[in-house]
Formats: sequence, C-alpha cells, structure tokens
Amino acid sequence: MSIQGEIKRVTTNTLQSMKQHGEKISMLTAYDFSMARILDDAGIDVLLVGDSASNVMAGHETTLPITLDQMIYHAQSVIRACQRCLVIVDLPFGSYQGNSKEALISAIRIMKEAGAHGIKLEGGEEVADSIKRITGAGVPVMGHLGLTPQSIYKFGTYAVRAKEEEEAEILMHNASILQDSGCFSIVLEKIPAALGARVAAELKIPVIGIGAGMHVDGQVLVMHDMLGITKNFSPRFLRRYLNLYDEISDATRQYIKDVKSRDFPNEGEQY
Ligand code: KIV
Repeated sequence: MSIQGEIKRVTTNTLQSMKQHGEKISMLTAYDFSMARILDDAGIDVLLVGDSASNVMAGHETTLPITLDQMIYHAQSVIRACQRCLVIVDLPFGSYQGNSKEALISAIRIMKEAGAHGIKLEGGEEVADSIKRITGAGVPVMGHLGLTPQSIYKFGTYAVRAKEEEEAEILMHNASILQDSGCFSIVLEKIPAALGARVAAELKIPVIGIGAGMHVDGQVLVMHDMLGITKNFSPRFLRRYLNLYDEISDATRQYIKDVKSRDFPNEGEQY
C-alpha cells in the first residue's frame, strides 16, 4: 500500500529492483477475469496472458492457432481484474514474425485495446529489430528463449533445450542481444539449471524461469498446470499446488446426484 492507501502497482522498475535486492519474482499465467482477480488479490507479482490460452482455454494442441484478436479478448478480461500486478501479454504466432513494423502494430493493438502493461515475444537475434522498434515506441518487452512453443514444428519436440555446449552458447548470445535490444526481462523455458543460473548471473535484467532451475530471478507456471486443472501433463519442473481436476469432478458428481435425487434445491434454497 502507498501512504494514500492506494495499492502500489508492480512495474518493470519494481522487477528490476527485486532482482537487485535478491527478491524472487512470482509469475503465473491468467486468461480470464475471475481467476486473475484471485491471483492478483493473493499478491502475484506478474500475470502473463500467455498464448498457452490456445491450449488450456481453447483446446488446441499447440499455441499456433490463437489469433491477436483472441489474445486481446483474454487480455482485456485479465486487465479488468488486476489492481496490483504487472500484466504482460504474449504476441501470438504470426503477429510479429513478418517484420518489425508488423510487430509494432500488433504490440500497439495490445496496449491500446487491452490496456496491457507490456508484451512478450519469442526468439533471439531474429526479433531484435522488432524489440528495438517496440521499446522505442515506449512499450516494455519481455523476451522468451529456450523452449519456444511457437517454433514447435521447427524443433519437433518439447524436450529440454540447450543441453549441448553449442546450443547453450547460442542461447547465452541471444540473451545478451535481447537485453541490448531493450527487453526489461526474459523468460527461459526448459533448459538446464546451470545454464539458467549463468544467464541470470550475466544479465542485468530479471530472468524468469519455467523449468530453468532455482538460480534464476523468478518463476512462472501455467496456472492450469499448477492448480491441477490439466491432467496428463507432468514435466519434472511442474509443482502442483492443488488437484482441481478431481475436486471439480467430485463436486460435479455430487451436484448431479443431488439434482437427480431431488435433494437440491431444498426449502431454504427457493423463493
Ligand atoms: O504462454 C505461456 O504460458 C508462456 C509461459 C510458458 C511462459 O509463454
């Protein structure tokens, strides 16, 4: 809280200062108003409107099909819920890879139409011009290296990335390029912990990991995975804090039973 009793917002500067003071950054994904309200009230530092919405909200196999309009719809819902956390929105596949002008136009749509606080995009050197152009327009950019799901058909697998020395060096090189291009932070996905530690130590900007080990500056998980809403997805890096799939399933079975047996509604539950 500030002196006036207003809630103090998390900004990109807050994250930078957290890194400097060794305070870990907490980040989760969110895609809708009700869940974002709970996560923000609970004190999460950053919410990412991830293109994983394509998987967990729309049921697609990959993140590729989700459109910019659909991302904006999810982002508008999340932004309406949040009073404290920083809200970052993924630029979806096909909305920035063409050229830096296209990337800027997509980023501006997200900022204007959703009221987001920044955007995230995947890739290294090949997106450096876009990052410079977007940050040049005043829009904070978060990078994303390691396992980059928008390139799944290029890699052909969701296995751990950069295990070999050569790929690790390329990742390190790309991480510095992202920092030099103006990124305020980087997400590292599914890489060896030692490499995550090295990137976090060498970069000045906060490095947030998902399957990148304990020595990065913060952690992010997909909300549906950490709450146990998704079922058949158990990578080593995932810690489940609830088993909502089973809890919701049990509650639904009980509701069906109560309706069929005429237990619900009872005298006190009607007008
Ligand atoms: O879209 C997403 O959920 C992400 C996280 C895995 C970082 O990019």
